[in-house]
Amino acid sequence: MKNLYLKKSCDKRAQNGYLWIFSNEIEDIGNYSPGEVVRIFNSSKEFIGIGYINPHSLISVRILSRKDINIDESFIENRIKSALALREKLYHKPFYRLLYSEGDFLPGIIIDRYNDIFSIQLNTYWAEKNKDLIINTLYNLFGNNINIVLKNDNKMRLLETLPLKVESLNKDFNGDIILEENDIKMYVNILKGQKTGYYFDQRENKKKISFVSKDSYVVDAFSYIGGWGLNALKHGAKKVDFVDCSSYVLECAKQNVSLNKFSAQTDFIKMDVIDFLKNLSQEKEKPDVLVIDPPAYVKSKKKINEAIKGYINLNKWAFKSIKKGGFIFTCSCSQHIDFEKFIWIINAAARSAGKKFKILSPLSQGFDHPINPKMSETNYLKGLFIQVL
Ligand SMILES: C[S@@+](CC[C@H](N)C(=O)[O-])C[C@H]1O[C@@H](n2cnc3c(N)ncnc32)[C@H](O)[C@@H]1O
Repeated sequence: MKNLYLKKSCDKRAQNGYLWIFSNEIEDIGNYSPGEVVRIFNSSKEFIGIGYINPHSLISVRILSRKDINIDESFIENRIKSALALREKLYHKPFYRLLYSEGDFLPGIIIDRYNDIFSIQLNTYWAEKNKDLIINTLYNLFGNNINIVLKNDNKMRLLETLPLKVESLNKDFNGDIILEENDIKMYVNILKGQKTGYYFDQRENKKKISFVSKDSYVVDAFSYIGGWGLNALKHGAKKVDFVDCSSYVLECAKQNVSLNKFSAQTDFIKMDVIDFLKNLSQEKEKPDVLVIDPPAYVKSKKKINEAIKGYINLNKWAFKSIKKGGFIFTCSCSQHIDFEKFIWIINAAARSAGKKFKILSPLSQGFDHPINPKMSETNYLKGLFIQVL
């Protein structure tokens, strides 16, 4: 195993627990090949950890351990076992994010579990190189009857010079699954669906909609397959509009309403959310509850100001569309927007809509997306449950 040395004045972050080392922090980066495991030393030649490198990527090293140990099958198995033990403690049904990359100290790997179907993203060169080992570890832990789907279409892979590809190891699997969350059943096809198939990160937040659902008119904007709106229906909403720009996900949301035998009034609207809110702001009947759960607006730090303007505009229309005294669940899943900035954005949006609000609760990612306290990048989901006055 090769040694890797940090440049002078680049020691502090990695020594303090941060798991990434950038290409400009490394001495002699040309010395290494993609996916190689390296021993990392600070500029005073003291050992600080074991990690893997891709010299072609801006985030060149991801630290795997602070101990000088072998990175082998049992290392990967122990990391997955420890992540599994946490999920088994937290959830009584096997539907969750089983492994959350840096949040579970196994950078580059995401595994979502839908009972005996495992949807995996291998987002770095090292993770891809160890694909067979990761797959075998899952067979060892869960038996040979499980199916594994490689949802390797995350654009992060391009930064690692990896191709984008989605495949099911069981070739007969057509992608259809039914998952369970908050005692609600949801159908989706994980081969066609977004990301790993479902957004487990909002599970705890979706529970909070139960407080304000009874007899309410709810709008689930950016609905995907309907998670928020289905929770509202379960807790007595009288009417739910599901709004998304994808007809496929709206078709799933519709199936999910039937699957759970919900009989309240529902509508499935294929439309840009801002256009929908602009129309709604002119309507007499305004919703009691509005969910705003958009995709990440900030794709890179450089575009942050543009994205902030986008969030302010979106939330301004949310404020203009809600009933007086109504409730908004508003979220951002952009890792570059921190919680304080998000409150600032919502204040700016309220001001430009001429509205006031109270914060009832902050919203964050679910327990199966643990936050690494040394890496703000793992703390990506921010939200507010507010009442508009
Ligand atoms: C983060 S996902 C929503 C997740 C969902 N709320 C949940 O909890 O399962 C974002 C959704 O917004 C949709 N979307 C993206 N841009 C949109 C737009 N401008 N108007 C309407 N829908 C949009 C995507 O199709 C996707 O389903």
